[in-house]
Amino acid sequence: MVIIEVVLGDITRERVDAIVTAANESLLGGGGVDGAIHRAAGPRLSQAGAAIGPCEPGNAMATAAFDLDPPVRHIIHAVGPVWEGGGYGEAEILASCYRQSLAVADELGARTVAFPAIATGVYGYPPDQAARIAVAAIRSTPTRVERVRLVAFDDDTYHHLRRAWDELTASAEG
Ligand code: APR
Repeated sequence: MVIIEVVLGDITRERVDAIVTAANESLLGGGGVDGAIHRAAGPRLSQAGAAIGPCEPGNAMATAAFDLDPPVRHIIHAVGPVWEGGGYGEAEILASCYRQSLAVADELGARTVAFPAIATGVYGYPPDQAARIAVAAIRSTPTRVERVRLVAFDDDTYHHLRRAWDELTASAEG
C-alpha cells in the first residue's frame, strides 16, 4: 500500500524520484506550478515537452528533469481538466491524471513521487473536491510507487488535502 504524505511547500524543492507537473496539452510550460518547474528544470524541459506533446487531458507523459537538482530524475507531465461546473467528466479526467501518473512512474521505476494539486489553480477545480479525488485515486491504484507526497503550495490547499487524507484513512479503518 502506497504511503501518502501531505506537505506544505514548493514542489521544485522535493527530494523524490519524480515530480508531477500540472501541465497544459502543449507540454511547452506555462504559469503556476508548471512555470515553477520549467524555471527550475531549464529551457531543455520545454524542448523535451515539444518533442513528445501534445498530451490529452487525463493523460500523463514523462521527460527527464534536466537542471532540477538530484535525486529528481523524471518530470511527469499530467494535464488536468478545466473546471466547467462538474458536468463534463472533470472528476474522471482528474482521477485519470493521478492514475496515469502512477502508471508512468511504474514504467520509470520511480518509487517516490511528488504531486501538486492538479487543476486547482488556473484550471479552477474546487480544491476540496480535487483533494478527495486525488487521495482516492492514489489509494485505489495498484502501483509499485512506495511513497507519494502531495505538495500544497498554500495553507488552504494543505487543509483540503489533509482533510481528504484523514477522511479516507478513517473510512478505510472502518
Ligand atoms: N509547488 C507546488 N504547488 C504549486 C507551486 C509550486 N511551486 N506553484 C503553484 N502551485 C500550486 C497552485 O497553488 C495550485 O494549488 O499548484 C496547483 C495547481 O495550479 P496551477 O499551477 O495553476 O495548475 P492548473 O490549475 O492545473 O492549471 C494548469 O496552468 O500553469 C498553467 O501550463 C499550465 O496551462 C496550464 C494550467
